[in-house]
Amino acid sequence: MPARLRAIHADITTLQVDAVVNAANPSLLGGGGVDGAIHRAAGPELLQACRLLGGCPTGDARLTPAYRLPARYVIHAVGPVWRGGDSREAELLASCYRRLVELAAAHEISSLAIPSISTGIYGYPIAEAAAIAVRTVRARVPAAPRLHEVLFCCFSPGDLSIYRSLLAEGSA
Ligand code: AR6
Repeated sequence: MPARLRAIHADITTLQVDAVVNAANPSLLGGGGVDGAIHRAAGPELLQACRLLGGCPTGDARLTPAYRLPARYVIHAVGPVWRGGDSREAELLASCYRRLVELAAAHEISSLAIPSISTGIYGYPIAEAAAIAVRTVRARVPAAPRLHEVLFCCFSPGDLSIYRSLLAEGSA
């Protein structure tokens, strides 16, 4: 059975799942938005673990323990900065989602929560980014047989309704 995909409205730092995804930057050394919230909730050990990784290219992802979060792992995914759409943004964003599902598969993760990568500080338009997120994750979950549940964790009711309609479209 491929994983169930759902959208919820929540603060990702509160979720009891195997892994939460962080919308990180290439330094992996923290920042604002969901990155700041995850580092604050996980505690200083997370920054120590990230330092050892030596960064991560845009479009890729890295895994660490989640320390004081209720989750077991954090998958740090680096999305692209939106520069108008002609700078390979769509390709890089899709690559990020592919890589995070690959890491979930490699670590036998059964439940995963993902924020809307690149759509905050990085400025990616939400409708386009959410469509890439849903399409890419849906295409890749069959290669992650242990993954039972994927939660698209939305931080606003507007984002939630966009994800919910995309998910409904695909299941019709
Ligand atoms: N739970 C779930 N979603 C959240 C939370 C939270 N606690 N906080 C914010 N969001 P952003 P980006 C949503 O800006 O656009 C950092 O400085 C937010 O509303 O966190 O990928 C990094 O270090 C939005 O929908 O990430 C990078 O430098 C989504 O998470 C840069 O920001 C992503 O917004 C990355 O920018």
